[in-house]
Amino acid sequence: MVFEPLSWRLGLAGLVVLGLALLLRKLYPKPYPGIPYNEASAKRLTGDVMEIVPIMKETNELSAAIFAVTTRKLGVPIAQFLFPGVRKPLIVLEDPREIEDILVRRHKEFDKAAIDVEVFGAMFPRATLAQYTTPELRAQKRLWADAMSVDFLRRVAAPNIYKCTLELLELWGLRAAQADRPINVLDDFKNATLDVIWIAMLGEEAGTIRFDIERLKRQLEGDGTALQPPSGAFLKEQVAYICETIVRNFSTLHPNLAQKIETYLPRYRRFRSSVTREMTRCMKKAVERYQHLTEGALESDALDTCAMDLVLRRQILQAKKAGVEPSDPTQDSNMLDEMFVLLVAGHDSTANTLAWFARFMERFPAVQSTLRAELRKAFPGPGLPSVDEILNAADVPYLDGACEEAFRLAGTAKANIRQTLVDTTILGYPVPKGAEIFLNYHIDRTPTPLEEEKRSETSRAAAERHGDGLSGIAGRDLASFNPRRWIVLDKTGKEKFDAYALPSLAMGGGFRGCFGRRMAQMELRIMVVLLILTFEFLELPEEHQSMAAIEGVFREPKHPYARLRILRE
Ligand code: HEM
Ligand SMILES: *[C@@H]1O[C@H](CO)[C@@H](O)[C@H](O)[C@H]1NC(C)=O
Ligand SMILES: *[C@@H]1O[C@H](CO)[C@@H](O)[C@H](O)[C@H]1NC(C)=O
Repeated sequence: MVFEPLSWRLGLAGLVVLGLALLLRKLYPKPYPGIPYNEASAKRLTGDVMEIVPIMKETNELSAAIFAVTTRKLGVPIAQFLFPGVRKPLIVLEDPREIEDILVRRHKEFDKAAIDVEVFGAMFPRATLAQYTTPELRAQKRLWADAMSVDFLRRVAAPNIYKCTLELLELWGLRAAQADRPINVLDDFKNATLDVIWIAMLGEEAGTIRFDIERLKRQLEGDGTALQPPSGAFLKEQVAYICETIVRNFSTLHPNLAQKIETYLPRYRRFRSSVTREMTRCMKKAVERYQHLTEGALESDALDTCAMDLVLRRQILQAKKAGVEPSDPTQDSNMLDEMFVLLVAGHDSTANTLAWFARFMERFPAVQSTLRAELRKAFPGPGLPSVDEILNAADVPYLDGACEEAFRLAGTAKANIRQTLVDTTILGYPVPKGAEIFLNYHIDRTPTPLEEEKRSETSRAAAERHGDGLSGIAGRDLASFNPRRWIVLDKTGKEKFDAYALPSLAMGGGFRGCFGRRMAQMELRIMVVLLILTFEFLELPEEHQSMAAIEGVFREPKHPYARLRILRE
């Protein structure tokens, strides 16, 4: 999630220094036996590290650069990225079926990588993403799980997502009416998804898009008076600080230590206390509501307005059942760490995926028209469909396919790392305990062919159940955005969405898969329906037509623009 796709990102600067230090100590890379690697790199002190420098200069995408110099250069599904001898090689795996198998079915052999856990652990040790899969972590996940259940999301989050989207439509309506200039959609999506996650987690309005609307209206009227910044503005600053710190500190020799040191500095202290202040204010309101309820009343989620409510109520209920005084949640570091990470994780990721969706609509106009036609058929109007209609009423396979394609082709979280818990094998190659595996989550090209016998037993069994979509029509021309690859005909000849048409890796998978998956899917669906029915995404000027990406914490479009035509007022 949030920073994880890059958490293996030992910075280049650090590695160069490391390379020089090693020169003195004559330490060469130490490849694992058997797994393919560049022979020449094994004879170099710097291993593969310097190979990626020129590629990075051109593309700004570190994950892609790693694949380029290993698996792609060697033309194999699995290879090693060699570091100078003090660091073990990174095993690079590109085959989507085996990756899915590792995430979903082989969790006894693989867990989160140490580097993920450590770098987050310095700042948010009690957040789930900074923990290995232990019994405590399982308990913590259980406590939060219902906040992402379909029922809870539909009742509590969906109406707020819908409302925030209508505000975004209003803002874009104003922008589009004003001038025929491309809009930076990523900026606006980031504000909108912040509004969504804030209210979904804390039950309060962040008011970011509302603020942007008012500000723009005043500008249009020539009114120069300043507006009071919305409450969400504060979180934007804090999130930016944390992202910058993590990205910066990954490029040091000791990312973990750098992060730890940061936590003693006044800047971090201020950050921590302002975030805690804001969250405890919200928590206190919720606790006051629940404290006096009976056990029976506490069983029901009818009063919950957000994820935090649900968790606090559960904790009070558990305490009452156990006959003890509920602990003070504002002192509960599990709660505070988890909430902050969710606020961060839940917004930039979704905003980037939406920005890619906007790029795809421009780049694939025929898909855009088909999608709009299908939506008009499903939601004839006259007005926009309600949130219930979008989520419950209509069966629109082309819409399901379009959302799935957006996740797949965006590559927002391009890659992530797992580590082996035991000696094991991948595609028949021996992999020792403690090895780090760099997994490609971005399925945007035909995988390198490989013999079925090399695959794990569980991977072969899964293909027997669901088929191997990648080798069929669904797997053709994977660089193009085509919702139809997710559509099959049922027995009566009717089109239906097939979630198994291809592996889904955009949000990882298995027990350590994305916690916010269902919420992100819901958010995307609501936004896509309302956006496509309200605007046409027109062709962009040539300088903005590129599909180039920048990979920071997430992989984002380098040209996140859209030119909009308003279809309805
Ligand atoms: C388009 C949107 C999103 C994308 C592409 C995305 C992607 C990911 C990925 C790739 C992972 C790592 C999973 C793995 O390696 O198996 C992850 C983990 C995670 N995501 Fe998301 N995510 C998105 C939205 C969200 C939202 C909305 C939330 C919160 C409400 C969220 C919270 C988390 C958390 C807490 C984890 C860590 C889970 C763990 O360590 O067990 N994500 N996400
Ligand atoms: C929305 O995003 C833009 C660009 O990031 C920013 O300049 C603007 O102030 C944001 N609005 C608020 C209320 O933060
Ligand atoms: C860690 O990141 C922060 C914020 O960008 C920076 O001020 C600090 O110097 C970094 N630590 C090290 C050791 O580079």
